[in-house]
Amino acid sequence: MPAQPHSRYAELKTQLNLHNYRYHVLDAPLISDLEYDRLLNELKQIEAEHPDWITLDSPTQRAGAGPADRFEKIRHPAPILSLANAFGAEDARAWFERIQKLDDRVEQAQFVVEPKIDGLSVVLHYRDGQFVQGATRGNGEIGEDITGNLRTVKAIPLRIPVVNSKLTAPKYLVVRGEAFIPIKDFETLNKKLEEAGERTYQNPRNTAAGSLRQLDPELTATRPITLLVYQIVHAEGGAVPTSQWEVLEYLKALGFPVANVSKRFKALEAALTYTETFNQGRDQLPYEADGMVIKLDDLKLAADLGFVGKDPRGAIAYKFPAREVTTTLNEIGVAVGRTGVLTPYAVLEPVEINGVTVERATLHNFDFIAEKDIRVGDRVLLKRAGEVIPYVIGPVTDARSGREKKFKPPAKCPACGQAVEHLEGEVAWYCVNAACPAQLLRNIEHFVSRGALDIVGLGIKIVEQLIESGLIEDAADLFALQKADLLKLEGFAEKKAENLLGAIAQAKGQRLNRVIIALGIRGVGEVVANDLARAFGSLSALAQASAEELQQIEGLGPNIADSIVDWFARPANRKVLKKLKSAGVDPQMEKLSSQNQTGKLTGLTFVVTGTLPNFSREAAKEFIESHGGKTVDSVSKKTSYLVLGEAPGSKFEKAKTLGVKIIDEAGLRKLAE
Ligand code: IVH
Repeated sequence: MPAQPHSRYAELKTQLNLHNYRYHVLDAPLISDLEYDRLLNELKQIEAEHPDWITLDSPTQRAGAGPADRFEKIRHPAPILSLANAFGAEDARAWFERIQKLDDRVEQAQFVVEPKIDGLSVVLHYRDGQFVQGATRGNGEIGEDITGNLRTVKAIPLRIPVVNSKLTAPKYLVVRGEAFIPIKDFETLNKKLEEAGERTYQNPRNTAAGSLRQLDPELTATRPITLLVYQIVHAEGGAVPTSQWEVLEYLKALGFPVANVSKRFKALEAALTYTETFNQGRDQLPYEADGMVIKLDDLKLAADLGFVGKDPRGAIAYKFPAREVTTTLNEIGVAVGRTGVLTPYAVLEPVEINGVTVERATLHNFDFIAEKDIRVGDRVLLKRAGEVIPYVIGPVTDARSGREKKFKPPAKCPACGQAVEHLEGEVAWYCVNAACPAQLLRNIEHFVSRGALDIVGLGIKIVEQLIESGLIEDAADLFALQKADLLKLEGFAEKKAENLLGAIAQAKGQRLNRVIIALGIRGVGEVVANDLARAFGSLSALAQASAEELQQIEGLGPNIADSIVDWFARPANRKVLKKLKSAGVDPQMEKLSSQNQTGKLTGLTFVVTGTLPNFSREAAKEFIESHGGKTVDSVSKKTSYLVLGEAPGSKFEKAKTLGVKIIDEAGLRKLAE
């Protein structure tokens, strides 16, 4: 292979850092994920050949730090200050009057209003444009070195300026920002954890702070942390702006993420009006903000005004009214989710938090109740932030009368009465009865969903109607529905009934992997279902598999194996399978080893190179073969496709030279569909 010039390496790094910025900072990517991966792979290949070329600003070095034993202490180059609070417009006006008396220039001052993000304050150091160190605020003078963790935050540029501009950054630049998890990402994270039976997080702030202050960067990398910067703490070897507004513009131009709701005003009153509109529309911000910061735009003036303790006089935090209240916990209820996870929730004495009446709040899991010693009858502290469902922070133990009752998790499912189960190492308790009415609705919703049997037109409302009218007791009953049954339901006429029955009939022909997904076995999503379909070939073979046999599948661990065996052992589930079979839902798939198959890939030749995200090399070959395709080891003109994974070998180069089509794992799966 021709040696790669160093200039190509440098160009790839610049390009990748730019695309990373377009994606993670601007949310406006210029290229597809596949194209990004191709560039990254090229870079990785060069790095494999020239390990001595690798620099810290390479995108491959984000999670490469390895776990730390402890965090070193770092002295900040300038004090990392705090802010004085203003509770309402009057407080803010009083602040303005105070500082006006101290300096005549204040009267003419302009103001910058920024969101006060509820996250973790971090300090980022850049030397010669390269991100070299990152720290927590600590006590304002000395913080902890969390560089390894911060490097995994994709919104943090590893090199500045990111965008090719005429700007040059100072030789040494230290900026400050707030690291946080956006509300939506937090909710998605918790949903995933809940589905996996793992402990959910309480709130975005603590999760972000906790993830950045733990010792293993690989774990931080799995958390959706981002950041917004707002201050230049220190600069050497280059000039930086002296107005806050220009600082924000400058940081933005260098490629740092900066809040897009920040604004500059000529008068305090206008700044206050803007701030107030944010108090009203706070739920529209994609992150938690506990107020707005009002800053003097003139940074020289702000510095001259000095401090009161650790609070600079030149800025004030306009705090939104707290969204925390106390109320009485009347009862602890237990909800049952699709996978049977039991989730406790608080039934509260109704209470208003900023215009919204709250009667229920999540209690996460039973361990949380025990750890916080939350008792029925307790006065509890409650918080509602952004769009996050209200949550209980903990009990107000001083308010106890002695009549509060300790809570015991139910031994039986509150909906169906069957015994609940607990898997070792998980916090969740489950109801494992597939016929449990509380699970039924969610189960069928999943059964008919797009990724499963994909029954078009069968929405949740109709499922509810079908359950309520007793027409279905489990998902398999859908296939026994008659037109006359449907016509009895409200809103059903001939046409609608026929369409629905047509869609149900069509679903009978779904492939085995889709049917396995539809069963809703805990831990069995798209990837595992594909593997199971290929390994066992039919539902009846899968139903007989032992945990040991299941664990032969790469990446399938004991928990999922147990959950599969358990699912098929349940009499109610066996009944569902039997009904499915007699309704004609019994797809077969040729097992891995069988030869001479025809499929979507028949006649095509594939070469696999590099590590694929969900397939081992062997599994990828088997996948191709099970769909009728052929796999060979070397690339030639006859090769139909190169399947490209991470860190590919020389086959990638050869394929490019010969003009062979290149696809990734997702592309391969699509081709086989
Ligand atoms: S300015 C002189 N601006 O709020 C600079 N702080 O209560 C003082 N915070 O510790 C800080 N967003 O972690 C500033 N736009 C923003 C902010 C912000 C969040 C945090 C910061 C600080 C705390 C002060």
